[in-house]
Amino acid sequence: MMRDFVAGLPKAELHLHIEGSLEPEMLFALAERNGVAIPFATVDDVRAAYDFSNLQDFLDIYYQGMGVLLTEQDFYDLTAAYLARAAADNVRHVEIFFDPQGHTARGVAFGTVIGGITRALDDAAITSRLIMCFLRHLSEDEAEATLDEALPYLARIDGVGLDSSEAGHPPAKFARVFARARGLGLKLVAHAGEEGPADYVIEALDVLDVDRIDHGNRALEDEGLVARLVDEGVCLTVCPLSNLKLCVVEEMGLHPLRVMLDHGLKVTVNSDDPAYFGGYVNANYVAVAEALGLGRADLAVLARNSFEGAFLGAEERARYL
Ligand code: ADE
Ligand code: ZN
Repeated sequence: MMRDFVAGLPKAELHLHIEGSLEPEMLFALAERNGVAIPFATVDDVRAAYDFSNLQDFLDIYYQGMGVLLTEQDFYDLTAAYLARAAADNVRHVEIFFDPQGHTARGVAFGTVIGGITRALDDAAITSRLIMCFLRHLSEDEAEATLDEALPYLARIDGVGLDSSEAGHPPAKFARVFARARGLGLKLVAHAGEEGPADYVIEALDVLDVDRIDHGNRALEDEGLVARLVDEGVCLTVCPLSNLKLCVVEEMGLHPLRVMLDHGLKVTVNSDDPAYFGGYVNANYVAVAEALGLGRADLAVLARNSFEGAFLGAEERARYL
Protein backbone atom coordinates (compact mmCIF):
# COMPACT_ATOMS: atom_id res chain seq x y z
CA MET A 1 0.00 0.00 0.00
CA MET A 2 1.11 3.55 -0.83
CA ARG A 3 0.75 4.66 2.78
CA ASP A 4 3.10 1.94 4.02
CA PHE A 5 5.63 2.68 1.30
CA VAL A 6 5.65 6.39 2.27
CA ALA A 7 5.94 5.50 5.96
CA GLY A 8 8.91 3.26 5.22
CA LEU A 9 10.88 5.93 3.34
CA PRO A 10 13.48 7.78 5.42
CA LYS A 11 12.83 11.49 4.86
CA ALA A 12 14.06 14.96 5.71
CA GLU A 13 11.63 17.81 6.38
CA LEU A 14 12.90 21.17 5.14
CA HIS A 15 9.88 23.46 5.47
CA LEU A 16 8.30 23.44 8.90
CA HIS A 17 7.38 26.46 11.00
CA ILE A 18 7.64 25.31 14.60
CA GLU A 19 4.83 27.69 15.63
CA GLY A 20 2.69 26.03 12.95
CA SER A 21 3.01 22.69 14.76
CA LEU A 22 1.00 24.01 17.73
CA GLU A 23 -1.89 21.54 17.91
CA PRO A 24 -5.23 22.74 19.33
CA GLU A 25 -4.82 20.46 22.37
CA MET A 26 -1.50 22.12 23.24
CA LEU A 27 -2.99 25.55 22.49
CA PHE A 28 -5.58 24.91 25.21
CA ALA A 29 -3.08 23.39 27.64
CA LEU A 30 -0.67 26.33 27.32
CA ALA A 31 -3.47 28.90 27.46
CA GLU A 32 -4.51 27.39 30.77
CA ARG A 33 -0.96 26.95 32.11
CA ASN A 34 -0.13 30.58 31.29
CA GLY A 35 -3.49 32.20 32.01
CA VAL A 36 -3.85 33.47 28.45
CA ALA A 37 -7.38 34.02 27.14
CA ILE A 38 -8.21 32.42 23.78
CA PRO A 39 -11.39 33.03 21.80
CA PHE A 40 -12.34 29.34 21.60
CA ALA A 41 -14.33 27.11 23.94
CA THR A 42 -13.38 23.70 22.56
CA VAL A 43 -10.83 21.97 20.36
CA ASP A 44 -13.59 21.52 17.78
CA ASP A 45 -14.19 25.30 17.78
CA VAL A 46 -10.49 25.79 17.05
CA ARG A 47 -10.48 23.30 14.18
CA ALA A 48 -13.63 24.93 12.73
CA ALA A 49 -11.77 28.27 12.64
CA TYR A 50 -9.06 26.72 10.43
CA ASP A 51 -10.97 27.42 7.25
CA PHE A 52 -8.82 29.75 5.16
CA SER A 53 -9.35 31.52 1.83
CA ASN A 54 -5.77 32.72 1.45
CA LEU A 55 -2.41 33.12 3.20
CA GLN A 56 -3.43 36.21 5.20
CA ASP A 57 -6.51 34.46 6.69
CA PHE A 58 -4.18 31.80 8.02
CA LEU A 59 -1.49 34.20 9.23
CA ASP A 60 -4.00 36.15 11.34
CA ILE A 61 -4.93 32.96 13.25
CA TYR A 62 -1.33 31.70 13.35
CA TYR A 63 -0.01 34.89 15.03
CA GLN A 64 -2.93 34.80 17.47
CA GLY A 65 -2.25 31.13 18.28
CA MET A 66 1.41 31.67 19.11
CA GLY A 67 0.31 34.13 21.83
CA VAL A 68 0.05 31.21 24.29
CA LEU A 69 3.82 30.55 24.01
CA LEU A 70 5.50 32.43 26.85
CA THR A 71 8.12 30.38 28.70
CA GLU A 72 11.22 28.42 27.73
CA GLN A 73 9.33 25.26 28.70
CA ASP A 74 6.51 26.17 26.29
CA PHE A 75 8.97 26.34 23.40
CA TYR A 76 10.57 23.11 24.60
CA ASP A 77 7.22 21.30 24.76
CA LEU A 78 6.15 22.61 21.35
CA THR A 79 9.39 21.52 19.68
CA ALA A 80 9.59 18.16 21.48
CA ALA A 81 6.04 17.33 20.37
CA TYR A 82 6.85 18.14 16.74
CA LEU A 83 10.08 16.11 16.83
CA ALA A 84 8.28 13.08 18.25
CA ARG A 85 5.58 13.39 15.57
CA ALA A 86 8.19 13.76 12.82
CA ALA A 87 10.14 10.73 14.07
CA ALA A 88 6.90 8.71 13.92
CA ASP A 89 6.76 9.62 10.20
CA ASN A 90 10.29 8.26 9.72
CA VAL A 91 11.74 11.76 9.40
CA ARG A 92 15.48 11.49 10.09
CA HIS A 93 16.49 15.13 9.66
CA VAL A 94 14.58 18.41 10.12
CA GLU A 95 15.29 22.02 9.25
CA ILE A 96 12.99 24.06 11.45
CA PHE A 97 11.84 27.66 10.94
CA PHE A 98 11.02 29.92 13.83
CA ASP A 99 9.57 33.44 13.83
CA PRO A 100 11.34 35.37 16.62
CA GLN A 101 9.53 38.62 15.81
CA GLY A 102 6.21 36.90 16.56
CA HIS A 103 7.47 36.46 20.12
CA THR A 104 9.75 39.41 20.89
CA ALA A 105 6.93 41.77 19.83
CA ARG A 106 4.89 40.24 22.70
CA GLY A 107 7.67 40.73 25.22
CA VAL A 108 9.06 37.18 25.10
CA ALA A 109 12.87 37.31 25.11
CA PHE A 110 14.81 35.98 22.12
CA GLY A 111 16.82 33.78 24.50
CA THR A 112 13.64 32.19 25.91
CA VAL A 113 12.50 31.20 22.42
CA ILE A 114 15.79 29.82 21.18
CA GLY A 115 16.62 28.24 24.55
CA GLY A 116 13.47 26.09 24.56
CA ILE A 117 13.71 25.13 20.91
CA THR A 118 17.39 24.15 21.04
CA ARG A 119 17.02 22.19 24.29
CA ALA A 120 14.38 20.04 22.55
CA LEU A 121 16.57 19.67 19.43
CA ASP A 122 19.47 18.55 21.64
CA ASP A 123 17.29 15.93 23.34
CA ALA A 124 16.09 14.43 20.02
CA ALA A 125 17.56 11.49 18.14
CA ILE A 126 17.04 13.05 14.72
CA THR A 127 19.47 15.60 13.29
CA SER A 128 18.38 19.19 12.83
CA ARG A 129 19.10 22.71 11.64
CA LEU A 130 17.45 25.91 12.83
CA ILE A 131 16.43 28.69 10.45
CA MET A 132 15.39 32.10 11.78
CA CYS A 133 12.75 33.78 9.61
CA PHE A 134 12.18 37.49 9.18
CA LEU A 135 8.57 38.61 8.91
CA ARG A 136 8.36 40.28 5.51
CA HIS A 137 5.32 42.45 6.38
CA LEU A 138 7.63 44.26 8.81
CA SER A 139 10.47 46.57 7.80
CA GLU A 140 14.02 45.67 6.88
CA ASP A 141 15.21 47.75 9.86
CA GLU A 142 13.18 45.46 12.13
CA ALA A 143 14.78 42.43 10.45
CA GLU A 144 18.21 44.01 11.03
CA ALA A 145 17.38 44.49 14.73
CA THR A 146 16.31 40.82 14.89
CA LEU A 147 19.60 39.72 13.36
CA ASP A 148 21.39 41.87 15.98
CA GLU A 149 19.46 40.07 18.73
CA ALA A 150 20.45 36.72 17.22
CA LEU A 151 24.20 37.45 17.25
CA PRO A 152 24.84 35.88 20.69
CA TYR A 153 23.09 32.70 19.50
CA LEU A 154 24.65 32.29 16.06
CA ALA A 155 26.30 29.02 17.07
CA ARG A 156 22.75 27.58 17.18
CA ILE A 157 21.33 29.26 14.08
CA ASP A 158 22.14 27.76 10.70
CA GLY A 159 20.26 30.04 8.37
CA VAL A 160 17.78 32.83 7.85
CA GLY A 161 14.51 32.77 5.94
CA LEU A 162 11.72 35.10 4.88
CA ASP A 163 8.06 34.39 5.59
CA SER A 164 4.64 35.96 6.31
CA SER A 165 2.54 38.01 3.83
CA GLU A 166 4.20 37.67 0.44
CA ALA A 167 2.22 39.91 -1.92
CA GLY A 168 3.56 43.45 -1.87
CA HIS A 169 6.67 42.46 0.09
CA PRO A 170 9.23 41.45 -2.54
CA PRO A 171 12.50 39.76 -1.57
CA ALA A 172 14.53 42.84 -2.59
CA LYS A 173 13.06 44.67 0.43
CA PHE A 174 15.47 42.53 2.51
CA ALA A 175 18.59 42.75 0.33
CA ARG A 176 20.81 44.39 2.99
CA VAL A 177 19.93 42.10 5.89
CA PHE A 178 20.31 38.96 3.76
CA ALA A 179 23.74 40.15 2.57
CA ARG A 180 24.77 40.66 6.21
CA ALA A 181 23.45 37.20 7.14
CA ARG A 182 25.48 35.71 4.29
CA GLY A 183 28.56 37.53 5.59
CA LEU A 184 27.95 35.89 8.99
CA GLY A 185 28.14 32.47 7.34
CA LEU A 186 24.41 31.73 7.47
CA LYS A 187 22.47 29.73 4.87
CA LEU A 188 19.73 31.69 3.12
CA VAL A 189 16.21 30.67 2.11
CA ALA A 190 13.04 32.62 1.28
CA HIS A 191 9.37 31.89 0.72
CA ALA A 192 8.72 32.90 -2.89
CA GLY A 193 6.08 32.09 -5.48
CA GLU A 194 3.51 30.86 -2.95
CA GLU A 195 1.09 33.73 -3.63
CA GLY A 196 3.65 36.12 -5.12
CA PRO A 197 4.69 36.09 -8.79
CA ALA A 198 7.53 34.25 -10.52
CA ASP A 199 9.49 37.52 -10.44
CA TYR A 200 9.75 37.17 -6.64
CA VAL A 201 11.46 33.80 -7.15
CA ILE A 202 13.92 35.45 -9.55
CA GLU A 203 14.54 38.25 -7.02
CA ALA A 204 15.13 35.74 -4.22
CA LEU A 205 17.81 34.11 -6.40
CA ASP A 206 19.39 37.24 -7.90
CA VAL A 207 19.08 39.78 -5.10
CA LEU A 208 19.09 37.62 -1.96
CA ASP A 209 21.26 34.80 -3.36
CA VAL A 210 19.20 32.16 -1.56
CA ASP A 211 20.27 28.51 -1.30
CA ARG A 212 16.68 27.19 -1.53
CA ILE A 213 13.23 28.45 -2.47
CA ASP A 214 10.33 27.77 -0.10
CA HIS A 215 7.20 26.85 -2.11
CA GLY A 216 8.09 28.15 -5.62
CA ASN A 217 4.77 27.07 -7.15
CA ARG A 218 4.42 30.13 -9.36
CA ALA A 219 7.90 29.66 -10.85
CA LEU A 220 6.07 27.41 -13.32
CA GLU A 221 4.59 30.53 -14.92
CA ASP A 222 8.04 31.43 -16.30
CA GLU A 223 9.62 28.86 -18.63
CA GLY A 224 13.03 30.50 -18.51
CA LEU A 225 12.98 30.47 -14.72
CA VAL A 226 12.06 26.77 -14.67
CA ALA A 227 15.02 26.00 -16.96
CA ARG A 228 17.30 27.98 -14.67
CA LEU A 229 16.05 26.25 -11.49
CA VAL A 230 16.63 22.87 -13.13
CA ASP A 231 20.04 23.90 -14.45
CA GLU A 232 21.20 25.24 -11.07
CA GLY A 233 19.63 22.35 -9.14
CA VAL A 234 17.76 24.73 -6.83
CA CYS A 235 15.75 22.87 -4.21
CA LEU A 236 12.07 23.83 -3.85
CA THR A 237 10.35 23.03 -0.55
CA VAL A 238 6.79 22.36 -1.68
CA CYS A 239 3.90 22.01 0.80
CA PRO A 240 0.87 20.27 -0.76
CA LEU A 241 -1.67 20.31 2.10
CA SER A 242 -0.72 23.93 2.86
CA ASN A 243 -1.31 24.84 -0.78
CA LEU A 244 -4.74 23.23 -0.65
CA LYS A 245 -5.78 24.84 2.67
CA LEU A 246 -4.57 28.30 1.59
CA CYS A 247 -6.24 28.00 -1.83
CA VAL A 248 -2.94 28.20 -3.70
CA VAL A 249 -4.39 25.21 -5.57
CA GLU A 250 -8.12 24.63 -6.04
CA GLU A 251 -7.92 20.88 -5.56
CA MET A 252 -5.10 18.42 -4.96
CA GLY A 253 -5.56 16.93 -8.43
CA LEU A 254 -4.44 20.31 -9.81
CA HIS A 255 -1.30 20.50 -7.65
CA PRO A 256 1.80 21.27 -9.79
CA LEU A 257 4.06 18.72 -8.07
CA ARG A 258 3.93 16.18 -10.88
CA VAL A 259 4.68 18.86 -13.47
CA MET A 260 7.58 20.00 -11.30
CA LEU A 261 8.96 16.46 -11.13
CA ASP A 262 8.51 16.02 -14.88
CA HIS A 263 10.53 19.20 -15.50
CA GLY A 264 13.34 17.73 -13.39
CA LEU A 265 13.03 20.33 -10.63
CA LYS A 266 14.56 19.35 -7.28
CA VAL A 267 11.25 19.33 -5.41
CA THR A 268 10.63 18.15 -1.87
CA VAL A 269 7.42 17.53 0.09
CA ASN A 270 6.89 19.23 3.46
CA SER A 271 4.15 20.05 5.96
CA ASP A 272 4.66 23.85 6.50
CA ASP A 273 2.23 24.31 9.43
CA PRO A 274 0.89 20.82 10.08
CA ALA A 275 -1.35 21.68 13.04
CA TYR A 276 -3.24 24.14 10.81
CA PHE A 277 -3.22 22.32 7.48
CA GLY A 278 -4.31 18.84 8.51
CA GLY A 279 -1.28 16.63 8.18
CA TYR A 280 2.38 15.96 8.91
CA VAL A 281 4.91 15.00 6.28
CA ASN A 282 3.66 11.49 5.46
CA ALA A 283 0.11 12.77 5.01
CA ASN A 284 1.49 15.29 2.50
CA TYR A 285 3.26 12.56 0.51
CA VAL A 286 0.14 10.38 0.51
CA ALA A 287 -2.17 13.26 -0.49
CA VAL A 288 -0.14 14.13 -3.59
CA ALA A 289 0.57 10.51 -4.43
CA GLU A 290 -3.14 9.68 -4.45
CA ALA A 291 -4.29 12.84 -6.23
CA LEU A 292 -1.55 12.85 -8.88
CA GLY A 293 -0.99 9.12 -9.28
CA LEU A 294 2.63 9.24 -8.17
CA GLY A 295 4.38 5.89 -8.05
CA ARG A 296 7.05 4.47 -5.78
CA ALA A 297 9.86 5.76 -7.99
CA ASP A 298 8.48 9.32 -7.77
CA LEU A 299 8.12 9.08 -4.00
CA ALA A 300 11.66 7.78 -3.65
CA VAL A 301 12.94 10.73 -5.73
CA LEU A 302 11.07 13.15 -3.44
CA ALA A 303 12.57 11.57 -0.33
CA ARG A 304 16.06 11.56 -1.85
CA ASN A 305 15.66 15.22 -2.87
CA SER A 306 14.83 16.05 0.74
CA PHE A 307 18.30 14.93 1.84
CA GLU A 308 20.04 16.40 -1.22
CA GLY A 309 18.41 19.77 -0.57
CA ALA A 310 19.22 19.72 3.16
CA PHE A 311 22.05 21.70 4.73
CA LEU A 312 23.96 18.57 5.74
CA GLY A 313 27.61 18.27 6.63
CA ALA A 314 29.79 15.63 4.98
CA GLU A 315 29.32 13.08 7.76
CA GLU A 316 25.53 13.43 7.72
CA ARG A 317 25.39 13.32 3.91
CA ALA A 318 27.24 10.03 4.00
CA ARG A 319 24.80 8.72 6.59
CA TYR A 320 21.65 9.70 4.69
CA LEU A 321 22.55 9.52 1.01
N1 ADE B 1 4.38 31.52 8.03
C1 ADE B 1 4.01 30.31 8.41
N2 ADE B 1 3.61 29.59 7.34
C2 ADE B 1 3.76 30.38 6.25
C3 ADE B 1 3.53 30.23 4.86
N3 ADE B 1 3.05 29.10 4.33
N4 ADE B 1 3.77 31.28 4.05
C4 ADE B 1 4.24 32.41 4.56
N5 ADE B 1 4.46 32.61 5.84
C5 ADE B 1 4.23 31.61 6.69
ZN1 ZN C 1 6.08 28.22 5.09
